[in-house]
Amino acid sequence: MTARPVEDGRYLVTGGAGFIGANFVHLLMERYPKAKVTVLDKLTYAGNPANLDPVRDRATFRFVQGDIADADLVGPLIAEGFDFVINFAAETHVDRSIGDPSSFVKTDVYGVYTLLEAIRPHPVSLFVQISTDEVYGEVLEGAAAEDAPLMPRNPYAASKAGGDRLAYSYWATYGVPVVVTRCSNNYGPYQYPEKLIPLFVTNAIDSQPMPIYGTGKNQRDWIHVRDHGRAILTLLGSDGVEGEIFNIGAGNEKSVLEIADTLLTLTGRPESLLAKVQDRPGHDRRYAVDCAKLTRKTGWVPQVSFEEGVRETVDWYQAHEEWWRPLKSGEFLEYYKRNYRFLPTGAPSGK
Ligand code: NAD
Ligand code: TYD
Repeated sequence: MTARPVEDGRYLVTGGAGFIGANFVHLLMERYPKAKVTVLDKLTYAGNPANLDPVRDRATFRFVQGDIADADLVGPLIAEGFDFVINFAAETHVDRSIGDPSSFVKTDVYGVYTLLEAIRPHPVSLFVQISTDEVYGEVLEGAAAEDAPLMPRNPYAASKAGGDRLAYSYWATYGVPVVVTRCSNNYGPYQYPEKLIPLFVTNAIDSQPMPIYGTGKNQRDWIHVRDHGRAILTLLGSDGVEGEIFNIGAGNEKSVLEIADTLLTLTGRPESLLAKVQDRPGHDRRYAVDCAKLTRKTGWVPQVSFEEGVRETVDWYQAHEEWWRPLKSGEFLEYYKRNYRFLPTGAPSGK
């Protein structure tokens, strides 16, 4: 066991009102009831205070609204003293980054710099930079290990690669205790319904089309969000992780059409909902990560099977319409109209 104060430490979780951050905060406060948790979140379109309802009233919880790129806010906050800073805050949607990369560079690169600069004079026990497997670019064969070249191919992935390497540089240059994680595609409750699984589930519930980009054969490596959270908690409690990179994934490789098929079955909807749309520019064909290093170093293994996790996730969206219906309005509908070009050729075929 590590000397880090994981059980009763002071945690700053940035981006904690988003999908993965909120699920992480729930898990953290469940596992370590004495931990003092501050969430810093800008509440962009993707940040949702309701995601923190399960912990909001705890005496050990505090919410601060603000931008990680705002040095005047971040400096004094970090100066209060934290044992752990876990940076989930980011602009995260590839399609939006293609439309307008500016907020991605600002948050995913400059925001990380601002956090690291604030931490430099106020040492923490560990800074976790939540990076992504998308920094490797498309992986056409096998699985990327941590020493694979970084070849990000869209502005989201490139900005995340910037934040990832900047965090590492603060370890190598200034000795800030940084660990970088690169996780594969997450799914689970509280995911903003612009991403594949929640978009398709909520569209299916409403018998609306499931827009398949291109051939639908693009592959992703899926992990349940709780398994991701458990991996982060494991790293916080592990010695010798400073200056290291860890891939996180569960080895559930699926094509978009396979996912769509599963979701149609689970929601009892017909195949006629599959709709071809114009492909995403620069659409990465495949991501796959090799997680042997994490398991070897910490013993972590994923616990949720894809079948069980996806069934539970569909049930959650079916049971929580009050959570997602308000999100699929206003700005979201404008984005949806702008982003998707439905093609007249009917449903794609062949998995
Ligand atoms: P999300 O879009 O659901 O949430 C992002 C959160 O960050 C939101 O609450 C948003 O309000 C907040 N935020 C955005 N800009 C901010 C800023 N400037 N200052 C403070 N808060 C800000 O994203 P997510 O899916 O939960 O992803 C969380 C992290 O995990 C990101 O860093 C992402 O790159 C990484 N990641 C995501 C996946 C995935 O499959 N979703 C996979 C690997 C890594
Ligand atoms: P997404 O959830 O945006 O994650 P990623 O960051 O990995 O691209 O998309 C996952 C996969 O699903 C990706 O291959 C693109 C595809 N996709 C569609 O075909 N249609 C959609 O409407 C969306 C959102 C994604």
